[in-house]
Amino acid sequence: MSSNRIATLTIDGITTEFPMVDGNIGPSVIDIRALYAKTGAFTFDPGFMSTASCKSSITYIDGDKGELLYRGYPIEQLAEHCDFMEVCYLLKKGELPNAAQKGAWVKSIKEQTMVHEQITRFMQGFRRDSHPMAVLVGLVGALSAFYHDSLDINDPEHRLLAATRLIGKMPTIVAMSYKYSMGEPQMYPRNSLDYSSNFMHMMFGTPCENYEPNPVLARALDRILILHADHEQNASTSTVRLAGSSGANPFACIAAGIACLWGPAHGGANEACLKMLEEIGDVSRVPEFIKRAKDKSDPFKLMGFGHRVYKNFDPRAKLMRVTCHEVLNELGLNNDPLFKLALELERIALEDEYFIEKKLYPNVDFYSGIVQKALGIPTQLFTGIFAMARTIGWIAQWHEMIGDPDQKIGRPRQLYTGSMRRDVPSMDQRK
Ligand code: SDX
Repeated sequence: MSSNRIATLTIDGITTEFPMVDGNIGPSVIDIRALYAKTGAFTFDPGFMSTASCKSSITYIDGDKGELLYRGYPIEQLAEHCDFMEVCYLLKKGELPNAAQKGAWVKSIKEQTMVHEQITRFMQGFRRDSHPMAVLVGLVGALSAFYHDSLDINDPEHRLLAATRLIGKMPTIVAMSYKYSMGEPQMYPRNSLDYSSNFMHMMFGTPCENYEPNPVLARALDRILILHADHEQNASTSTVRLAGSSGANPFACIAAGIACLWGPAHGGANEACLKMLEEIGDVSRVPEFIKRAKDKSDPFKLMGFGHRVYKNFDPRAKLMRVTCHEVLNELGLNNDPLFKLALELERIALEDEYFIEKKLYPNVDFYSGIVQKALGIPTQLFTGIFAMARTIGWIAQWHEMIGDPDQKIGRPRQLYTGSMRRDVPSMDQRK
């Protein structure tokens, strides 16, 4: 990890040295923890464009190569050879499970699929037309009011129990929010089904019909969850880490991550992207929207395009496009107008000099809305599915942070541009 290289910084003729630290792969870092003490200056990096907030061994992204590794395994291989439960085990524990380990892990998750009955009454407090993310933020945060035996972040048993509870209960809570919005009764989990099939059962099953999930669609959903499971130090993961650095309980930290993911620049982009495609409506209008995306005076951005890290194709977008095609094919929707529009929009954008120059490619959110719509998931719930998938990533990162001896409470400083010291004027002196 350490490097024998040194970074030097000269301010007003005074040179200060800082150690360089190398990772196993990817950019090295300059350890500037002593910068303020040595120089009296802060670094300035809004949006953390050049800042590593932590050490991590969970996920690696190479934005130039368009590479995404979970614990060293390429996302393409995991999406093809594993299911979401195996990937959850991998992200949490660092290795893929063998058959016995997988069996025990899946059992521990299935034991947690129900929620406290009083939580189902929580739903009655929400309006039927509440945005599902508002419900998720509320209900996940509220889990800390019910599960007091998994709040002590310093107790490994508590941490593991909180992890299995969150992974097991997220699908139930997401499905509950959907059923409530539809005025339909909540469907209890059916643990004889696998994770994604159980979610589809809770979403689309009813007490009066026998619902059997389509295995092709369930597998597609499982792959969508794998693609969204973790992504290094993105905004919502950084939020979870920052909340966790204060010692907040795991349910509160995950609720904070859900709140951050809701934003349209982040996890809310899949919902925004589908709405954008529906607004474009026809291939003939694509040039109009491409023009708007390039117009600095227009706040419109092409949703589902661009990424802070990927300056090449987001590998998840390619896999999502394949999954989208598979689902539409299974459902006989090959001529789905939105999918054809998305393919044409992608083609035109990727040939446009603006998108080429700014290295803007489709990201994970570009196709996920189309495939989720085809699966019957309402647009407003897309980000809820993202949160359900990302829960394991947030938990793994939170867990890693707690075990990091370098970890301190996150407390950035600022460049102050406000008023100099001044005295309070009496009321009659104020302008
Ligand atoms: C996710 O971080 C993660 O890992 C996130 C995520 C995960 O798995 O956790 O991958 C999930 O959030 C994916 C991103 C989903 N968001 C969107 O699809 C929304 C549309 N995209 C943009 O908002 C934007 O691309 C971001 C927010 C994703 C990235 O923004 P950056 O890195 O801060 O880059 P920027 O906004 O400074 O853009 C650089 C330039 C700007 O032009 P200039 O000021 O240099 O002239 O590119 C332009 C931007 O205007 N630009 C776009 C654009 N994205 C960037 N122009 C038009 N359409 C876009 N989508």
